[in-house]
Amino acid sequence: MGAVTTDLARIDVFDPDLYAAGDPETNALPFERYAWLRSEAPCVRLPCAIPGHEPSAWVVSRFDDVSAILRDPERFVSGHGVTMRATHTTVAGDGGKPAMITMDGAAHSRNRRLINRGFTPAVIRSFETHFRAIAATVIDRAVALGSFDFVQEIASQLPMHAICDLLGVPEADRPQLARWTNFAASPTDPDYAIDGEDILTVLGHVWDYGLELAELRRKDPGTDVMSTIVDAADNESLTADELMGFVFTLAAAGNETTRNSASHALLGLFNHPEQMRWLRDRADRIPDAAIEEMLRWSTPVIYLRRTAATGFELHGQQISPGDPIAVFAASANFDPSEFADPQAFVLDRTPNRHVTFAVGPHVCLGAHVARLELRVLFEELLRRTDDLRLTGPVVYARDSYLRGVKRLGVQV
Ligand code: HEM
Repeated sequence: MGAVTTDLARIDVFDPDLYAAGDPETNALPFERYAWLRSEAPCVRLPCAIPGHEPSAWVVSRFDDVSAILRDPERFVSGHGVTMRATHTTVAGDGGKPAMITMDGAAHSRNRRLINRGFTPAVIRSFETHFRAIAATVIDRAVALGSFDFVQEIASQLPMHAICDLLGVPEADRPQLARWTNFAASPTDPDYAIDGEDILTVLGHVWDYGLELAELRRKDPGTDVMSTIVDAADNESLTADELMGFVFTLAAAGNETTRNSASHALLGLFNHPEQMRWLRDRADRIPDAAIEEMLRWSTPVIYLRRTAATGFELHGQQISPGDPIAVFAASANFDPSEFADPQAFVLDRTPNRHVTFAVGPHVCLGAHVARLELRVLFEELLRRTDDLRLTGPVVYARDSYLRGVKRLGVQV
């Protein structure tokens, strides 16, 4: 095990307060620390002082290394968890229910194959009309208020309804499911705490709820993602535990990521009025490049954790089997060796090989769903407003895994 560096003042990149206190003017990321790491210590063992988390991990910050590690699942496994938490909600050995995000090899391929057909480009294209209808309803309601919290009224609504529709969650249950996933995804933020409940209790609610949803779908099967999951469970290609793990992963992935991309991107537009004008001119059909830049700019998943399956050396550091490795997407996406003028928000940026959705076998299954949600949300928002202003406050989540925006006050 390598020595833990002592220069904490500069490089404690796991500190949740660092992200809570981010500066909205500079996209709220600790760019200086990341730049220092990329240049001086591209692979370094750093402490993580959060209770209930691994005490330290190898932090990898350069774009090339991050991409290479994510593409090498034989040497860098996901099965010991994909965050720095010491126990994992999707690892059976930790008291969780197994889900593909923390599976390796054949188990991962089997789970991913089972559900893939619910996420093909053709299936996702078929969601567009429905997503537009949801966006229109929530945006009209928000715009009628004049001043509102963009996160609460718009950014959290479309992703929540989209994933709940895919899972067949009845309307009345959606806010509760979103509260549970908020807490499970960002347990270090006190605003997401649920009175008197710890993470496993809350997870228990989500798992039980997954079984209820499966029952609902059995009675009323369709062609949606939940029907695919139930079908696989009934054909015994998926265990009951895997079904519960699936429901949690999808509910969390669907609720906790796209809303933050939309919020960071809107703030980027406020901070770059020329980009806002550029986008408004193209609101009839937002170019793909603009969506990719919003995704790079927002990088909602700050780091991805892997565990070394074998010993190896990187930048002169000897990594041992079993060591946790945190590859920082939020640093890689702003690495000048890959992105020209990386801290500029440039909506027609090409090429743009961001790692916001990861790369390799675990690349985000919902990436095209998220892209469609962002397109629909911004097209419908810009069509319905001709002058959108930031009034504040801008409040970030206290979490160093998910880069959340909790409040973003705006006025039309
Ligand atoms: C902007 C929005 C999103 C971002 C930034 C994002 C990011 C990611 C990342 C970085 C991973 C890889 C995690 C790892 O390997 O450690 C991932 C995996 C995954 N995402 Fe997303 N995601 C987004 C939206 C969604 C949506 C909307 C869904 C579901 C509809 C979804 C479902 C999944 C699933 C199931 C996996 C696991 C894939 C696997 O392990 O093979 N994601 N996502």
